[in-house]
Amino acid sequence: MAEELRIHEGCKREKYETLLPQVAALTVGEADLIANMANTSAALKQTFGFLWVGFYRVVEKELVLAPFQGPVACVRIGYGKGVCGTAWKEGRTIIVPDVERFPGHIACSSASRSEIVVPLIKEGKTIAVLDIDSERPGHFDETDKIYLEKIAALLTRA
Ligand code: SME
Repeated sequence: MAEELRIHEGCKREKYETLLPQVAALTVGEADLIANMANTSAALKQTFGFLWVGFYRVVEKELVLAPFQGPVACVRIGYGKGVCGTAWKEGRTIIVPDVERFPGHIACSSASRSEIVVPLIKEGKTIAVLDIDSERPGHFDETDKIYLEKIAALLTRA
């Protein structure tokens, strides 16, 4: 790994290490998922300045837009559709290094180049997804996956 990239990765990990206890403190003892999503998306946006960061909730047979930070986004996403619907269907985190190479990607913003979607799983069922878009290609990696899954777990513990 190039030196510059290694420094960048270390810095990313540090930011997540600082953010995790903050999200834990913001959400502990609060059972309202929407309120917790609101503060978590604000904390992620403030820490990393992502283009778009937010949530979609599973409501009956669709994902419905929930608290987010960034430009306006599409409101409903079907099961198995786009990156979000695929993460829901497969019940796993999906990293998309280049959105143009993901068949069926739903472009809410033309500025988005890469994306990560993390399911929020409660008692074995996906109840929502955390979606993050970046203007930078290949922005997301295993470090993001590890920490964002920890953040997702904080939101489903209530
Ligand atoms: N790109 C997502 C749609 C949601 S927006 O990025 C906010 C997808 O393909 O599911």
